[in-house]
Amino acid sequence: MNEQKRQYEFIEKCKDMLSKRNKQLSACVVNFGCQMNARDSEKLVGILSEMGFEMTDSEDADLVIYNTCTVRENANNKIYGRLGGLYNMKKKDPEKMIALCGCMMQEEHVVEKLKTSYSFINLVFGTHNIYKFAELMYQVLNEPDTFHVQIWDDRREIVENLPSRRKYTFKTGINIMFGCDNFCTYCIVPYVRGRERSREASDIIREIEAQAADGVIEVMLLGQNVNSYGKGLKQEINFAGLLARVDEIDGLKRIRFMTSHPKDMSEELIDVMAKSKKICRHMHLPMQSGSDRILKEMNRHYTKERYLYLVDALRNKMPDIAITTDIIVGFPGETEEDFLETMDVVEKSRFDSAFTFIYSRRTGTPAAKLPQNASDEEIKDRFDRLLAAVQNSAAESAERLTGKVMEVLVEQRNEKDDNLVTGRLSNNSVVHFPGDESLIGRIVPVELSECKGFYYLGRQTRDGI
Ligand code: 5AD
Ligand code: SF4
Repeated sequence: MNEQKRQYEFIEKCKDMLSKRNKQLSACVVNFGCQMNARDSEKLVGILSEMGFEMTDSEDADLVIYNTCTVRENANNKIYGRLGGLYNMKKKDPEKMIALCGCMMQEEHVVEKLKTSYSFINLVFGTHNIYKFAELMYQVLNEPDTFHVQIWDDRREIVENLPSRRKYTFKTGINIMFGCDNFCTYCIVPYVRGRERSREASDIIREIEAQAADGVIEVMLLGQNVNSYGKGLKQEINFAGLLARVDEIDGLKRIRFMTSHPKDMSEELIDVMAKSKKICRHMHLPMQSGSDRILKEMNRHYTKERYLYLVDALRNKMPDIAITTDIIVGFPGETEEDFLETMDVVEKSRFDSAFTFIYSRRTGTPAAKLPQNASDEEIKDRFDRLLAAVQNSAAESAERLTGKVMEVLVEQRNEKDDNLVTGRLSNNSVVHFPGDESLIGRIVPVELSECKGFYYLGRQTRDGI
């Protein structure tokens, strides 16, 4: 029997078992980490909804799942902290089910620790067998007092067409590839997400067409390194080719993608973006460091000069593009001179925004063995200087659009003020403006009246699409 069919059968079996209970069961999926995890969570929610669970945001639910991240050490600490809270809830309600999945579960030492110190957990699974979730849930329902664990070292197959339930009606992420083969020396992702595998273009297109027919107007194509999409596929295609095909899908209004690696960025990709009306004017291009020596130590395969060239090439072809980045400070061996090279790239690139991180040692990665020469104070000082520079360039570039009328895709009610809604520009900037729920999922023209550094306050100028 094919795997997809098997999993649907487990969904039915779980549904049957749950319907025999005399109450409506609720489930809460808490997502940590990146867009890739967010999409995996949509798949978990889809399966749980089919089983008959009512989804809630409250961890008071009958089933709580943490979809974890492990990219930096503090992500792990956060999970251990929150598990304490779940334990107290479970003491009051012994039938409460607790499951953990995602990247952190792919680390052996984590699972060992959970087994010994957090034995109240019902289920632990990893990133490669998420499509087995229904089957694993069936085991939990049959043996609720057992600590079930299933972790695989690598993905065995890509199973298509399982249920998923979108968080937003109008936008979703689409996996185009899984895993990563780059082995940047600081990064744990290749160890927890496994080898790089692309999905067949026809499967991706079919999925997006179905989503568009169901009301989705924005898709985010997801992969750890989308620029190397297509390796090992039956039909030859690269990322630029895939984007050009997605661009033709009726109904879509916005196309985003995440994450690009500078070493694989092609002129062809820049051209496809520049020609398209749907591909958003945003490029997230992690630079990590501006020092050639550190980039080499990081195994990044590009130089400062090449990075700056790409920024220029993007801005030449698309003057309105927003360029954002990720930067790490305090990589082992980073000197003040190396750091000043990073500051120089920030100065020259004028990033629209940047995620800045202090290097976090991840057990099992090559960099974990390198000695750290800088003190915590020095690293913190570099981090503060970097943050100030990044904030300065972000505010400066945001200021340029003030007073303009731009299209905003409204995403949600404003979290703090009920009279406002919140949406995004094509370049990914956030805009708040007066409006109500009826605008959610629509693209409307908004005058960006006031720039607040990281976001705008605006006002709608006329009815949208
Ligand atoms: N320490 C600090 N930052 C890291 N990142 C990845 N691994 C580490 C680490 N060990 C950052 C990189 C990457 C982003 C998702 O997280 O900047 O682009
Ligand atoms: Fe990690 Fe590098 Fe792969 Fe990104 S490209 S996931 S930083 S190894």
